[in-house]
Amino acid sequence: MERNEFLKLLGTAGLAVCAGCALESCSSSDPAPSGSTKPPTGVDFTLDLSSPSNAALLTDGGFVYSNGIIIVCLNSVTSTYTAVSQACTHQGNTIAYQAAQSKFVCPAHGSQFSPAGVVLQGPATTSLKAYNTSLTGTMLRVFS
Ligand code: FES
Repeated sequence: MERNEFLKLLGTAGLAVCAGCALESCSSSDPAPSGSTKPPTGVDFTLDLSSPSNAALLTDGGFVYSNGIIIVCLNSVTSTYTAVSQACTHQGNTIAYQAAQSKFVCPAHGSQFSPAGVVLQGPATTSLKAYNTSLTGTMLRVFS
């Protein structure tokens, strides 16, 4: 193999390795948006709390995602629930509920929201869209 051919091959391989490193570091230090920041509209659906897939909603602080919305059981004794859009209003990453802190937290850049969806800490500046909930028996309705 000629020296020029070897260096050309080495340069191509090195570039591929560097591209891989750059992509990896980008995804770990600056999470890409997972979706739109637009909240769902025209919402009206029901969750059966007797279904195993919704069992998390039977305990305080438990939550499930459905139809672009995160639904949380705030108090199982009083059957108090909250439902807000699951996409962070900053860049659309999926939020989670931190029961110990009684707030929603976005893992991407640290925005925090109250159980009602109000911004507690940025970088998000817009509140999450809140939805109504109504429990009848074991059927939890979530609606606009
Ligand atoms: S996407 Fe940036 S804080 Fe949520």
